[in-house]
Amino acid sequence: MAYIKEIAKYEGQEITIKGWLYNKRSSGKIYFLLIRDGTGIIQGLVLEDNVSKKTFELCDRLTQESSIIVKGKVRKDSRAPGGYELELNDIKVVQLTESYPISKKTHGIDFLLSNRHLWLRSRRQYAILKVRAEVIRAINDFFDSRGFLRFDAPILTPSSCEGTTTLFEVPYFDNKVYLSQSGQLYAEAGCMAFGKVYTFGPTFRAELSKTKRHITEFWQIEPEVAYANLDDIMKLAEEFVSYIVKRVLDKREEELSILERDTKLLEKIKLPFSRITYKEALNLLDKQTEAPKLKWGEDLGAPQETYLANQFEVPFFIHHYPASCKAFYMKRDPENSELSLCIDMLAPEGYGEIMTGSEREDNLKILEQRLKEFNLPKKPQEWYLDLRRYGSVPHSGFGLGLERTIAWLCGLKHIREAIPFPRTIDRAYP
Ligand code: 4AD
Ligand code: MG
Repeated sequence: MAYIKEIAKYEGQEITIKGWLYNKRSSGKIYFLLIRDGTGIIQGLVLEDNVSKKTFELCDRLTQESSIIVKGKVRKDSRAPGGYELELNDIKVVQLTESYPISKKTHGIDFLLSNRHLWLRSRRQYAILKVRAEVIRAINDFFDSRGFLRFDAPILTPSSCEGTTTLFEVPYFDNKVYLSQSGQLYAEAGCMAFGKVYTFGPTFRAELSKTKRHITEFWQIEPEVAYANLDDIMKLAEEFVSYIVKRVLDKREEELSILERDTKLLEKIKLPFSRITYKEALNLLDKQTEAPKLKWGEDLGAPQETYLANQFEVPFFIHHYPASCKAFYMKRDPENSELSLCIDMLAPEGYGEIMTGSEREDNLKILEQRLKEFNLPKKPQEWYLDLRRYGSVPHSGFGLGLERTIAWLCGLKHIREAIPFPRTIDRAYP
């Protein structure tokens, strides 16, 4: 048995492929079967003179997504998609599929999402998820090669990290817990033990926003570094993102081309990324009419992010936001306590925020004060406060949203295609 991905090494040989019928067409004495096996798609040629009558007749009955095992000879053909064809001499049907729901005609997005378990088999979805797997590999390689310890944070947590309005509550025996919004607080414990760690796992937000950027279950990569300041973390962040981009350009050229992604702008990405302050972002917004302008202290919303992200061809940072629109754990700027020592990274081409990071408040008294100001209960955070009681040090980290990054790299219109089974405000099926 052979895999389509490795077809080149079988040139001239007779091989067996186990897969599914992706599509077919015929012209009298020839059938062209597109066969997929999970590693690729190849065109199988069935010539009336080369096969038994029974096999030739079978081709007429073969339906889309029937599971089949085929035998044939590998032929180099520059005109064939992928450069090779199979001259088939035998076809065995494992299951003849009846009325496969997804056809070549265009379907509405709701129908496709309801059939996500099947939609995954399409060439486009396949390409996106191959890019996703490559990005995941790149993430692990980047941090592993830089001496970071992978440190898995819990999913069931006693308290909120990113605000109480987007918490999913879960019954927990006689108690209740919450689905983690972010692994950060645990990564902070990790970096005090191991110096440099990164968490990588699913995080959850009961987001009421129904936008192309929000899902309720998404994956985050969250490095945390002891003794690092905002500049250190910005440098790490830009090196990290450009590493991912290079890897995808390098290894997933074919998939990006299936997605018709214009890669010119991805190729332009170089270090360092531009850095603008929140104040400068407001000034840019003041000069335009596409998105509502903001008053100092207001957070960027989707229209402002889209506008700003359209002004850049490569990712960029916005730093020093007003503390009032950021989380309780962020350290304030010693020179202006109204500002947080924080960053957002925005992806260009209108994509907007893909990352948030900051220096963390490392002083016990101030952190206790912040919990009060944010109306957060102290008890479930005692363990976190311990990190400030016992050998507290300056430290910083960030969180990158995996699906938003993939949506940008693949040029997707909506984040929902960037994860195998998207969860949104109105959908948790299939
Ligand atoms: O900006 P956020 O809320 O920051 C944090 O959670 C910090 N604790 C990270 C840290 O410093 N360790 O989320 C981080 C990133 C966002 O920039 C975005 O890319 C993604 O997570 N994200 C979402 N992605 C999809 N759907 C949602 N509802 C998301 N919410 C956040
Ligand atoms: Mg953010």
